[in-house]
Amino acid sequence: MEQPPPRVDCTSCHTDEGAAMEGSVHHPPSVADATYYPVCWTCHGKHSIFSSGDARSHTYPPSVDRVCSQCHDSDAFRAKFPAVNKNIVASYRHSTHSRALHETGNLDAAACNDCHGSHDILPGTHEKSSVNRFNLAGTCGQCHEQVSQEYLTSIHGELLAAGNRDTPVCTYCHGEHYILNPRDPESPLEHTRVSREICSPCHNSVVMSRKYGLRTDRVATYEDSYHGLATRFGSTSAANCATCHGVHNILPSSDPRSMVHKANLPATCGQCHPRIRQDAEIGPVHTASLTQQAELVRRFYMWVIVLTLGGMVAHNLLIHFRPSAGSCCASAGCPRWGSSTPTRSSSIGFWR
Ligand code: HEC
Ligand code: HEC
Ligand code: HEC
Ligand code: HEC
Ligand code: HEC
Ligand code: HEC
Ligand code: HEC
Ligand code: HEC
Ligand code: HEC
Repeated sequence: MEQPPPRVDCTSCHTDEGAAMEGSVHHPPSVADATYYPVCWTCHGKHSIFSSGDARSHTYPPSVDRVCSQCHDSDAFRAKFPAVNKNIVASYRHSTHSRALHETGNLDAAACNDCHGSHDILPGTHEKSSVNRFNLAGTCGQCHEQVSQEYLTSIHGELLAAGNRDTPVCTYCHGEHYILNPRDPESPLEHTRVSREICSPCHNSVVMSRKYGLRTDRVATYEDSYHGLATRFGSTSAANCATCHGVHNILPSSDPRSMVHKANLPATCGQCHPRIRQDAEIGPVHTASLTQQAELVRRFYMWVIVLTLGGMVAHNLLIHFRPSAGSCCASAGCPRWGSSTPTRSSSIGFWR
């Protein structure tokens, strides 16, 4: 009888990959659990091994999500590891990265392994993980280098470098797997949603403002401004937080590089208000100030309200304290009211 072939050990030749996997989250903690964990050929195939640049390879970028989904999108995996996010593959497949790989054939877009690594995958909580919040700018920055550089020199990026956990990282704003083009109406970064869904959870928070000595009225003053009102009604041409402050390059207004530094305001506002360019005297933005016309309208309505309500009260008081029976209006057959004169209880009962 023929001997069964010896068990294949890929790592005898591919030592680096073997060592990387031993230290990764994909190394089974016990022999009993091993069936849940991948081995070399779970991802590379047994007899169809090709370099990942080859379209026939299991690890060709557009094919990688299928490799990972064998487990990460399977019911057996969900049952065994309930703590791991259940919807990763589905979310990823809606993303701009996945669509670029599968639909437009842009092979430079991120596949699972571009963010997580292939053999050295670690959970995000591990400080060495490529998706740990402190390493993310570098991970996304492999492909979005300019954005990453800008972010790292912004106030939020500087805070991150100092080890701060309250500051937004790439995935706070863009999401982890369901990353969309910000112009997509579904994206939380769509122009009309930025203020409420992205900036306000932090900049409207009392806890955060106490901790950092920030003012909490920034969001409210914006929401009540022309820009805020127009944006709330769906305008994509009025300014949102990010059109004035920048997105990845946000800095305190005291910093000369900031888009809202005094010297840069004519250019920042000038994007949309060409005439402001010459006007060095741009008023404060984050105050609930009103234009002259709006102030006139406001006063007009104040007076209309005062006069209308005041008139109603006066009217009712007059009826309430109307001359007693015998005087003109109450007597039956009054020439002006006719015989069906309203009585106090039927006409003004509500007020009693
Ligand atoms: C006897 C040593 C040996 C064994 C065992 C072995 N390989 Fe290889 N493998 C090689 C060599 C040599 C190459 C060609 C490397 C090159 O072209 O740079 C290669 C290429 C590859 C490549 C493509 C790499 C590239 O850069 O093109 C993959 C993927 C791969 N092997 C995976 C595996 C897997 C999975 C196993 C186990 C099922 C395995 N190998 C077992 C020696 C081995
Ligand atoms: C969880 C899936 C997964 C497992 C398990 C896995 N690999 Fe890979 N491997 C990949 C992916 C994805 C790539 C392509 C991207 C890259 O180069 O990192 C890759 C790349 C490689 C390459 C480089 C050649 C190439 O195709 O670019 C070699 C060699 C390799 N793997 C060998 C192994 C060996 C040996 C094992 C077992 C110890 C193993 N892999 C386990 C996913 C895996
Ligand atoms: C054979 C099944 C299998 C395959 C294929 C597989 N994984 Fe895993 N993966 C696991 C198991 C099991 C765990 C460990 C879960 C745990 O301990 O909570 C895990 C954990 C992870 C984690 C860490 C989750 C956490 O706790 O934060 C990441 C990230 C991950 N895998 C990514 C990938 C990627 C990317 C691929 C494809 C390149 C892949 N996996 C392919 C089984 C698999
Ligand atoms: C654009 C980068 C990116 C891509 C592409 C990506 N991921 Fe992730 N993934 C992340 C980030 C960031 C996290 C969150 C890490 C953290 O903070 O725990 C994460 C988390 C995970 C986790 C752990 C979830 C948990 O609940 O702990 C798994 C498993 C995972 N990803 C698998 C995958 C798989 C499978 C694919 C491909 C279908 C994929 N990822 C594609 C960036 C990415
Ligand atoms: C392997 C390279 C790569 C990595 C890593 C990567 N991306 Fe991308 N990303 C791309 C490419 C290429 C596109 C353009 C896709 C297309 O053709 O529409 C893109 C598109 C985007 C877009 C949509 C904007 C646009 O121009 O279409 C956003 C937002 C984005 N990525 C954010 C991220 C974030 C956040 C991370 C890290 C968590 C990340 N990316 C990691 C390559 C990458
Ligand atoms: C505070 C929220 C926030 C953070 C943090 C953030 N972004 Fe963005 N990002 C946005 C917004 C808002 C837009 C849309 C800007 C626009 O409409 O022009 C955007 C646009 C993008 C785009 C597409 C447009 C372009 O300029 O190419 C990419 C790619 C991108 N971000 C990647 C990243 C990466 C990588 C990081 C981390 C280094 C990051 N972002 C951090 C909010 C953020
Ligand atoms: C996850 C929380 C978080 C999000 C989201 C966030 N920020 Fe911040 N932001 C902070 C923290 C924390 C500081 C640091 C305060 C300090 O140290 O002075 C800060 C500082 C700032 C500063 C400088 C304030 C100063 O007085 O120095 C500006 C301006 C700013 N953020 C604007 C924005 C805008 C605009 C957005 C939305 C696009 C945004 N932030 C989203 C947490 C956040
Ligand atoms: C029309 C442009 C514009 C819009 C829209 C805008 N800001 Fe500002 N913001 C400014 C200017 C100019 C300053 C500096 C002068 C001041 O304090 O009024 C500033 C100051 C700030 C500060 C104080 C820190 C500093 O740099 O002095 C924070 C925080 C802030 N804005 C957050 C926001 C948030 C959050 C939004 C959206 C809800 C927003 N801003 C919308 C122009 C704008
Ligand atoms: C992204 C374009 C954009 C930017 C940047 C912008 N605005 Fe506006 N602004 C608008 C639009 C659109 C309106 C009209 C809103 C409406 O329909 O009420 C408006 C309205 C105004 C108004 C109300 C009076 C009027 O002209 O209708 C003032 C005042 C104003 N902006 C000041 C500023 C200042 C100051 C800055 C810079 C700190 C600025 N804006 C930046 C688009 C912008």
